[in-house]
Amino acid sequence: MTGKERWGSNLGFVLAAAGSAVGLGNLWGFAYRASQGGGGAFVLLYIAIVLLVCLPLLVAEMVLGRNTGNSPLIAPRRAGGKAWAPLGWLFLLVSVGILSYYIVLMGYAGTTLLKSVLGNLPLDKTEASNYFSSISTGEVSLRGQMFSLAITGGVVAAGIRGGIERLTKWGMPLLFLMLICLALWASFQPNAHEGYAFLFGWDASKLTDPETISNAFKQAFFSIGTGIGAILAYSVYLDSRSAIPEEAVAVVTLDTAVGLIAGCVTFPLVAILGLGDLVGEGSIGTLFSTLPHGLAGPSMNLTGWLVSVLFFALIYIAAITSAISLLEVPVSSLMDQIGLSRSKAVWISIVITALLGLPSAIDVNFLAQADSIMNALLITSGLLLAILMGWSVPSRFKNELEDSKTSKLKINGLLWTLRWISTPIITIGLTVVLEETFRNWQF
Ligand code: PFF
Repeated sequence: MTGKERWGSNLGFVLAAAGSAVGLGNLWGFAYRASQGGGGAFVLLYIAIVLLVCLPLLVAEMVLGRNTGNSPLIAPRRAGGKAWAPLGWLFLLVSVGILSYYIVLMGYAGTTLLKSVLGNLPLDKTEASNYFSSISTGEVSLRGQMFSLAITGGVVAAGIRGGIERLTKWGMPLLFLMLICLALWASFQPNAHEGYAFLFGWDASKLTDPETISNAFKQAFFSIGTGIGAILAYSVYLDSRSAIPEEAVAVVTLDTAVGLIAGCVTFPLVAILGLGDLVGEGSIGTLFSTLPHGLAGPSMNLTGWLVSVLFFALIYIAAITSAISLLEVPVSSLMDQIGLSRSKAVWISIVITALLGLPSAIDVNFLAQADSIMNALLITSGLLLAILMGWSVPSRFKNELEDSKTSKLKINGLLWTLRWISTPIITIGLTVVLEETFRNWQF
């Protein structure tokens, strides 16, 4: 498609792909799902799924992008023939669907960042719940949504090198630095160990608990962000000699490390601030209401102010580097399918995303339902991608990796894992997730 665009360097690609992976999923999603229970069993399942399923799938997605040179909408059809065209549409549907509410969550983070800077955070439990209602509905929520969408659109419109790579090159190192400072600070606080105990507490029976399994699957897929076409869209601009498996390992390692370190910030914070009773139910708003009021409390003073500003700035940077990758899916598809310019494609995509996001912007319950449906669809498209690359056109997988000088042993190992480990595990996971989604569906 757009033959002229290329990443400035391999590091540029890795940081952009890690930027896509590291996002609200690591900070908000991890805290939200881990707090629903499961402890160490949830963490262990999440890591196992990342390694056995998401890593080989990420390699397959990158291979599909670089090999076809097409956008997510067209790449499956180009690789597997007409029968695979619906997968392209599924990529498009899921990425725009996720982006529509992701932008709203990003708006909550932006509003909370602004309130942190101004020192306007809620001071007690009642204020905290009123605070969350005030930022998650009405004008405040809509303003946050529009602002976040505008800057996401601005970065994508500036192009791969001039927008996406430029932002992620400074944003990601800054994010790592801020996160490590926060984790270190948290580790020196007196009650931090209670937070670690909640997050890593071991109960073997949870390994077979459907809710824990379903949460671990959703968390792994959402966090790595594979099976949706975002990394595929980025891989189109990859150099033909770059080592895809090594780059995939770097992205997965960075993402998982950030997820775990973020957990080592949020859970100790909850314990330090004595907010355990508020977090048990693990609702969407936990991160945006419970933590701010704890940090604004009288015992925290300047430290609380600094931690809340750093924490919500970190969340906002993480969110924007993910939102741009989601937006790149419809943008590159419109450019590829109907030859639109990048800026026109951005305009059309953000208008559609804004409209689709309106129900989530005015009703947080709708947002929660959208999240659970989109997560199930994300895993579905991941399964189809594994079947396409592992079973339908394995020769493309092999040839593309051979051309960039990956060793035969690695290629065969990856392909074998994709076919015989990842595919059956995703099938089981998807069944559990669908069953959970229908059971919890609120009509
Ligand atoms: N991985 C991102 C996060 O953890 O917030 C969300 C995401 C980005 C999901 C890109 C899917 C995707 F394609």
